[in-house]
Amino acid sequence: METVLSGIRSTGHLHLGNYFGAIRNFVKMQHQHHCYFFIADYHSLTTHPTPSDLHQNVRQVLVEYLAAGIDPEAATLYIQSDVPEVTELFLLLNMNAYKGELERCTSFKEKIRRQPDNVNAGLLTYPVLMAADILIHRATKVPVGKDQEQHLEMARTFANRFNRLYKTGYFPQPFAYNFDSELLKIPGLDGSTKMGKSEGEGNAIFLADDPATIRKKVMRATTDAGPAVAGQPMTQPIENLFNLMRVVSSEDMLQHFLQAYEDTSIRYGDMKKQLAEDIIAFTTPLREKIADIGKDNNYLGRVARMGAEKARESAAKTLGDVREIIGFKSFY
Ligand code: TYM
Repeated sequence: METVLSGIRSTGHLHLGNYFGAIRNFVKMQHQHHCYFFIADYHSLTTHPTPSDLHQNVRQVLVEYLAAGIDPEAATLYIQSDVPEVTELFLLLNMNAYKGELERCTSFKEKIRRQPDNVNAGLLTYPVLMAADILIHRATKVPVGKDQEQHLEMARTFANRFNRLYKTGYFPQPFAYNFDSELLKIPGLDGSTKMGKSEGEGNAIFLADDPATIRKKVMRATTDAGPAVAGQPMTQPIENLFNLMRVVSSEDMLQHFLQAYEDTSIRYGDMKKQLAEDIIAFTTPLREKIADIGKDNNYLGRVARMGAEKARESAAKTLGDVREIIGFKSFY
């Protein structure tokens, strides 16, 4: 049995990228391994949410995780800020994380481009906090999408550096992982290669979107200006539509449109109509569960408490070991 861990920033509704890149991947493992899944609310502070938004976002992500199939009895489902041990490990790991390597991180460069007026130290040390999240449970498999690959590489660097410095093999190496395929990158509807919550209006389909919103977003998705040309490679926007079909539509439907693309009879309007209906069929049961679970405060409270207790037990054990390895000894 391996230790598996994954997490999601609490900055908004979950979208199809989160679902297919991380959650579905995790759900398939939760009954076979020792699994932790958490809501990264400390990470969300890099964008300075208001206190009420912070709380509301954590609640919504918790509801949507549960609706998407995370079983709080099988896995340990918790909120990052309920486990203060994470922040101490973060501080300890920061002593062996170097400014240059943090500045070179792609996601840091991307974030400072996006929020030039708020280049806070939390953005720079984001990968260290992420390593602390993973190492606090000594996890080895991390079900995430392709965009997190570099962060996992950094987590391995910090784990290895700690091991070398203290001549120990305490931390195992964590790897980004997909249960049944390569790491996934679900494309956006605006022609960009990534679906994301901060990528702008119309890029992402959220699990909680109603059918009318889904139809509107998909019908407005970027497509080519002209018709398909035989023998030409697919343009990015068209490839994106096919990649979305690959995750939500039946194999027959996918083959039908691929064939139509090949023989240039394809009409993108028809393909988008079908794609919208397949997304709606897929998200409708999730949307209904989100609405149901969202009403049940008692259940959410029970889940959060149970998760916090289980996560703290494991975290306290690791932190105690780490303090001892580093050389902290009590005088009383
Ligand atoms: P976040 O909140 O941006 O995304 C959560 C998860 O969803 C995946 N994902 C995607 N996968 C495929 N295609 C997409 N378009 C797509 N968009 C998002 C992400 O890869 C991720 O798995 N830093 C993390 C949260 C985090 C974490 C951790 C994850 C904090 N600590 C420790 C794993 C382990 C983040 O911001 O993910």
